[in-house]
Amino acid sequence: MKGMKIKRIMFTEEELSGIVSGLADKINSDLKDAESLVVLCVLKGAAVFTTDLVRRLSIPDVRIEFIRASSYGREDVSSGNVTVGAVTGDIEGKDVLVVEDIIDTGRTLSELKERLKAMNPKSLRFCGLFDKPSRRTADFKADYIGAVIPDEFIVGYGLDYAEYYRHLPYVAVIEIND
Ligand code: IMP
Ligand code: MG
Repeated sequence: MKGMKIKRIMFTEEELSGIVSGLADKINSDLKDAESLVVLCVLKGAAVFTTDLVRRLSIPDVRIEFIRASSYGREDVSSGNVTVGAVTGDIEGKDVLVVEDIIDTGRTLSELKERLKAMNPKSLRFCGLFDKPSRRTADFKADYIGAVIPDEFIVGYGLDYAEYYRHLPYVAVIEIND
């Protein structure tokens, strides 16, 4: 893509697999008595991560639902204007695990949390694959974090730059020259 260069690989495919397994272990142990769970994938970024995570869950009845959320106006700077779509299924009275790709300013998930709470789930947990705590402006804390990363723009494994590079099996830091 024009104006984009991969600077370095931050997480290899193998490292990502280890991170996802570690998260699944924690979720399985916290939810060992749960009969069912609704995994709510935040589109589009968490799509790749979610499909790997759900295949490692040992809860008997897992349902996968989706919600569209975005906070980016331009491609690489959070605008703070969060748009949230409809959930693809009912979450009332359910144990819900929200799965997100990366927590940056925290605005997306704090807005989403309010919207989802209003739908009366039985419980609500948040899992972020990556966390950039140095960029946080909203008061938000996830229950599960795969890896804390520095303030660098990353792509791959679901994460995009202007909708590209979500398909990369690894996570890379990119240099944007525009
Ligand atoms: P927040 O509302 O600022 O926490 O925004 C989180 C959203 O910003 C994520 O779901 C991503 O879509 C996007 N985002 C934040 N940092 C990055 C990055 O380094 N690469 C790609 N997308 C990012
Ligand atoms: Mg996203």
